[in-house]
Amino acid sequence: MGRYGRDRTAVVGIVELVTSDVDVLPGLVVVLAAGGGTRMKSETPKVLHEILGRPLLGHVLRTATATGAARICVVVGHQRHKVERYLAEEWSGVDVAVQAEQNGTGHAVRCALEQLGSLPPGPVVVINGDTPLLEANTLLDLVAAHARSQAGVTVLSAEVLDSTGYGRIVRDEADRVAGIVEHKDATQEQLSIREINSGMYAFDPDVLGRVLGDLTTDNAQGEEYLTDALGLALSYGRTVNAYVTGDPDEVLGVNDRAQLAAVAGLLRDRVNNRHMKAGVTIVDPKTAWIGVTAVIGTDATIERNCFVSDGCDVAPEAVIGPDTTLWAATVGQGAHVLRSHVDSAQIGARAAVGPFTFLRPGTVLDADSKVGAYVEIKKSTVGPGSKVPHLSYVGDATIGAGSNIGAATIFANYDGEEKHHTSVGDEVRIGSDTVLVAPVTVGDGAYTAAGSVITEDVPPGAIGVARGRQRNIVDWVLRRRPDSRAAQVAKRATATPKSPS
Ligand code: UD1
Ligand code: CA
Repeated sequence: MGRYGRDRTAVVGIVELVTSDVDVLPGLVVVLAAGGGTRMKSETPKVLHEILGRPLLGHVLRTATATGAARICVVVGHQRHKVERYLAEEWSGVDVAVQAEQNGTGHAVRCALEQLGSLPPGPVVVINGDTPLLEANTLLDLVAAHARSQAGVTVLSAEVLDSTGYGRIVRDEADRVAGIVEHKDATQEQLSIREINSGMYAFDPDVLGRVLGDLTTDNAQGEEYLTDALGLALSYGRTVNAYVTGDPDEVLGVNDRAQLAAVAGLLRDRVNNRHMKAGVTIVDPKTAWIGVTAVIGTDATIERNCFVSDGCDVAPEAVIGPDTTLWAATVGQGAHVLRSHVDSAQIGARAAVGPFTFLRPGTVLDADSKVGAYVEIKKSTVGPGSKVPHLSYVGDATIGAGSNIGAATIFANYDGEEKHHTSVGDEVRIGSDTVLVAPVTVGDGAYTAAGSVITEDVPPGAIGVARGRQRNIVDWVLRRRPDSRAAQVAKRATATPKSPS
């Protein structure tokens, strides 16, 4: 929560300014994620579509968690098994409620409350699973405004230029909130209202409970609208308020692929601006896609066309890219990763990687190491100052300090059934085009001859030679290809040997 610059204590502090006996942290946050998402035209549930490498629902849950809510419940329905699998893998702390038939937003909340049983104290906040730009501070401000006014329900609203499709906030002559009317149910006059319902609310739990019992399906869509809660709360004699957000972008929902791309761009810009303000150079912010939890140190540079996922940790002065993808990677201070693909690997300080390097899970490159062009490394350690400069595959290996792996070396780790380990010591020189057939060990200070297939251990200080000895068949071309250009030049060369230059 520190990331949001606001922790539990700070929030409680604000409450004390208002009314000392109200706890303004949400008790329960209900995330609505049961809808069909038909406009996505996808086999993937809408809330699992990703931006910045994280599902929409993952962004929303990160926000919900950051509010410090006691409990979070996701309502699932459409394609629920896929959503449930994601929640089980990434969000084991949240509750899941099932809305078997999607009979509206009010019905969805009713399903959640029926399945949860007893509620923690504090207001109930309802948000949607498809609004990845929403920030925790906005929800905390909503909850604080709700507590301050002691309203039965407070809706998060926004002033927008184009309110098409949204529910409109209807106010009376005294500018008090009188209710919400859905676009499909609105009169011509109501359609011109620019203040829209974000679909997010803070509820007094007792009011919410009563509302959910009183909802009807008497509307254009024949659904239980949660929006009817405002009118109902007023009819119980409770106050109803709207908290108008200063940043309408935050409540943007994703309904189709164009909105998915648009919202991704906005989130990308927000993340990039945060890093640039903190001293990171981002050469081309439109082509730098950085996950919301990625950590990037000061004076690091993100070059053109890069993706840096959630969970990456890039140290100060590192240079990433151009054209580089990092998934869950750690990059040390001053390292450079150029035009490469890195997945779950650690890159040490001042290491040089790329261009065109593929680092797979379990790779550890120690400080000052170098891994060059067309090299693939999997589940291996490259020791400090060691180099794998060109065209090699390294799998299931440990390489010590100060060693050099010659061009086109293959660590043959797979015997067709099992993987085996190769160990290369310190200050080793592996000749070009060596095949190291695992399991095998090359001792400290040892060499292998170029082109060797090493199947037995090479002791420290030895050179392993494992290849056919060369023999030259003199005048073979002159005899077998007498009319070729090769024969002509060879004849000339053997007749008049070139003078040494
Ligand atoms: C809703 C609001 C509208 C508001 C808009 C903001 C209602 C009746 N209308 O409209 O006032 O301006 O959001 O984006 O609430 N969902 C379920 N179960 C359902 C139906 C929906 O879980 O039976 C979920 C959806 O997955 C989605 C959210 O609720 O996350 C909103 O549903 P959606 O159908 O998109 O509502 P809108 O028509 O956009
Ligand atoms: Ca919607």
